Amino acid sequence: MSDAPKKLHIKTYGCQMNVYDSERMAEAMGTEGYVLTDDPAEADMVLLNTCHIREKAAEKVYSDLGRLRPFKEAKPELKIGVAGCVAQAEGEEIMRRMPLVDLVVGSQNYHRLPEMVAATARGERPVDTEFPVEDKFEKLPERPATGRPTAFLTVQEGCDKFCAFCVVPYTRGAEVSRPVARILAEAGKLVAKGVKEITLLGQNVNGYHGEGDGGVWGLGRLVRELARIEGLERIRYTTSHPNDMADDLIEAHGAEPKLMPYLHLPVQSGADRILKLMNRHHTAEAYLRLIERIRAARPDILLSSDFIAGFPGETEQDHRDTLALIEEVGFGAAFSFKYSPRPGTPAAERAGVDPEVADRRLHELQALITRLQHESQAAMVGREVGVLFEKPGRLPGQWVGKSDYLQAVHVTSETPLQGALAKVRITASGPNSLAGVLV
Ligand code: SAH
Ligand code: SF4
Ligand code: F3S
Repeated sequence: MSDAPKKLHIKTYGCQMNVYDSERMAEAMGTEGYVLTDDPAEADMVLLNTCHIREKAAEKVYSDLGRLRPFKEAKPELKIGVAGCVAQAEGEEIMRRMPLVDLVVGSQNYHRLPEMVAATARGERPVDTEFPVEDKFEKLPERPATGRPTAFLTVQEGCDKFCAFCVVPYTRGAEVSRPVARILAEAGKLVAKGVKEITLLGQNVNGYHGEGDGGVWGLGRLVRELARIEGLERIRYTTSHPNDMADDLIEAHGAEPKLMPYLHLPVQSGADRILKLMNRHHTAEAYLRLIERIRAARPDILLSSDFIAGFPGETEQDHRDTLALIEEVGFGAAFSFKYSPRPGTPAAERAGVDPEVADRRLHELQALITRLQHESQAAMVGREVGVLFEKPGRLPGQWVGKSDYLQAVHVTSETPLQGALAKVRITASGPNSLAGVLV
């Protein structure tokens, strides 16, 4: 046997939390002697970190597994693992449908990955989708330096909201917040390794209620404490629920300069009837008043949201109410999805909207959102904005970073800008990015 390191290929689907989890899994396997590879053909192990949110995402996992068959035939010792939310939701079913899969690890059990891989070497096909009591992150090795100036940090997981369309409460389990001290320690180590921007992650991140000094802390207090870390320049958080936008968090947007002026606050629909059917527990009016309060604290904040087109029972008037809400708020970015019925969710029991109608509504949402996004980008021209540079661009001498408002910005510079936080004057706006010059 050679001593060459074994190679691990990870494919990540879905949300930022999966991106964070994939990094942590790579680190866990690193201690077992695995290094990452982009090429599944040279891998000794392939992990698919999956997403269950919409049917298309979940079914893609099975077609991607099918595509791995020739690799497994060419190299029978190749290990194939399924992690993430499809693993959590379907567990044993994946083993039945896909004999080439060696292990299935649910979203809360990544710390068990090394022992599960060891079990596969004994010819077992382990499945672990239990929700354990211990914090998986505390069982994982310390995070190495990545050379990137930005990092994700999961502070909260799971969801107790049970929106009628959504699988997350089932795939990620009940809401759990990590203790303040552990988050501060992880953030401190990231900053010591060169990280300047941390995005706090949670399915309901603004519902964070972690154990801290003197009792339970909310996200606003956590943000203010993180802001005291010297060398940490930027803080973001995602994703939030409108009903958990506490006063002190709104205040932090006005008072804490390190908290970036960007907020993703999904509302899903602008029609009260649909919001009720979705089990969102707020009205469109309540959302608009909330936006007013957030803008009063931080007038330049860029707001973003998620929308679902064709939720069961959605009428043409409901759809127009959603378009009207989007226009009224003037989102600088947003995502829209065609409703996808998910097994086990209450909405999946209801009669759906005609698929062609849902498609047309989705296109109308997307057209409006794109127009608003372009307007918001164009309004940046002539302004000066902070940009954290993350990597070289495609053209020689070009560097790409993110503005305070999370817009992609290109700048040409002879001195390398990677990792630099600089003021940039925006000179042009394209459909998906801005261009500027260093001030
Ligand atoms: N925790 C976040 C987001 C969860 S999933 C929140 O509370 O908003 C991300 C987005 O996917 C959701 O905001 C919603 O717009 C969309 N989504 C979730 N389930 C869906 C489904 N069954 N069909 C279509 N879109 C869905
Ligand atoms: Fe899903 Fe709703 Fe929870 Fe968001 S708040 S994760 S949409 S159930
Ligand atoms: Fe998908 Fe799971 Fe994230 S279902 S959106 S990967 S929490």
